[in-house]
Amino acid sequence: MRAYQFSSSAPLEGVYGAAIGIEQVERDAGQPGPGAVQVAVKANALNFVDLITLQGAFPVDGRIPLLDGAGEVIAVGDGVTRFAVGDRVVANPHANWLAGPPTPDTTGLVLGIMADGMLAETVTLAESMLVHLPDAISFTQGASLPCAGLSAWSSLVGGPSRYSVAPGSTVLTQGTGGVSLFAVQFAKAMGCRVIATTSTAAKAERLKALGADHVINYNERPDWGVAVLELTGGIGADLVVEVGGPNTLPQSIIAAKVGGRIAMVGIVGGMGSIDFMQMLPINHKVLTLYANGMGNRQDLVDMLRFVEANAIEPVIDSTFTFDQAADAYRHFASRGHIGKVLITHPA
Ligand SMILES: NC(=O)c1ccc[n+]([C@@H]2O[C@H](COP(=O)([O-])OP(=O)(O)OC[C@H]3O[C@@H](n4cnc5c(N)ncnc54)[C@H](OP(=O)(O)O)[C@@H]3O)[C@@H](O)[C@H]2O)c1
Repeated sequence: MRAYQFSSSAPLEGVYGAAIGIEQVERDAGQPGPGAVQVAVKANALNFVDLITLQGAFPVDGRIPLLDGAGEVIAVGDGVTRFAVGDRVVANPHANWLAGPPTPDTTGLVLGIMADGMLAETVTLAESMLVHLPDAISFTQGASLPCAGLSAWSSLVGGPSRYSVAPGSTVLTQGTGGVSLFAVQFAKAMGCRVIATTSTAAKAERLKALGADHVINYNERPDWGVAVLELTGGIGADLVVEVGGPNTLPQSIIAAKVGGRIAMVGIVGGMGSIDFMQMLPINHKVLTLYANGMGNRQDLVDMLRFVEANAIEPVIDSTFTFDQAADAYRHFASRGHIGKVLITHPA
């Protein structure tokens, strides 16, 4: 079978800062051993962490890339009970985190980074790493959901207390990347009011079409935290889905209401440092900041059921073929996308 693997000898051309590349190779697909399931991969999705990986953040030489993939079961090993040939499945990026809170034993192994990932014609995984893909969710939609969707899902219904947003809660999202658009769609389906930030007028229209109640252009309003207070009668957002990092956190702290929450998701706004004075309102406003590490297998099941029940359609920016995987990376790295960039496999 054909697969891609990371190669440190040839950084991917056309990707700014790439220290590593991907090369197509032939690998023996083998037969699934006891408890394992072999899957013909139908679609993959790219995530921001896949770019960080190309920049050399993790020792991945020789591993198969990508956290996200969906496909069809083509063989099962002895003792497999949850799956049969022909089942449609999707993998949870956290290979060993099945349910409950994260522990050192369950959260170390992430597909496409610490273990072989999903960018291959077939993958063979322990059955415990897979869940059934509901009939109403296509392979491409299914592939788009695990990493980005779970991150949005865990932001909205997760956190240390598992405190969930309620209908009527105000949720602030940032930008038009994969996590943020799922956060907009999920929050609207949960009955929340959504305020979204973005960089351009055209993207603002896309966000409104997706259901965002208010959109703030952060280039026009660098003080967008204050703009959120203006839109909420001085109260602020119940939840901020913070994907920007150090360059957006100070405004997120301003935008959060007293007693509110900030889901600490990512760093798409770039690296940097924060003056501690800008952090002090965390205390004054009694904010809860919590990390977001996608989710466990049960979270993936719950999220897929929610997506199916609410007929949520993931926003797909573009689709590349398996042979065009390098172009998919280049397009994603050019940062022009809205929503998810996908790779599909021949039927
Ligand atoms: N902790 C976890 O387990 C986990 C899981 C998934 C993702 N993440 C992290 O979450 C972040 C988002 O991931 P993703 O895959 O959704 O990324 P993505 O698709 O690459 O997001 C790109 C978008 O971010 C927006 N953006 C860029 N700079 C911004 C800024 N200064 N302020 C606000 N928005 C900005 C842009 O949209 P606009 O032009 O519309 O602003 C851009 O199109 C990443 O840092 C990723 O590593 C973490």
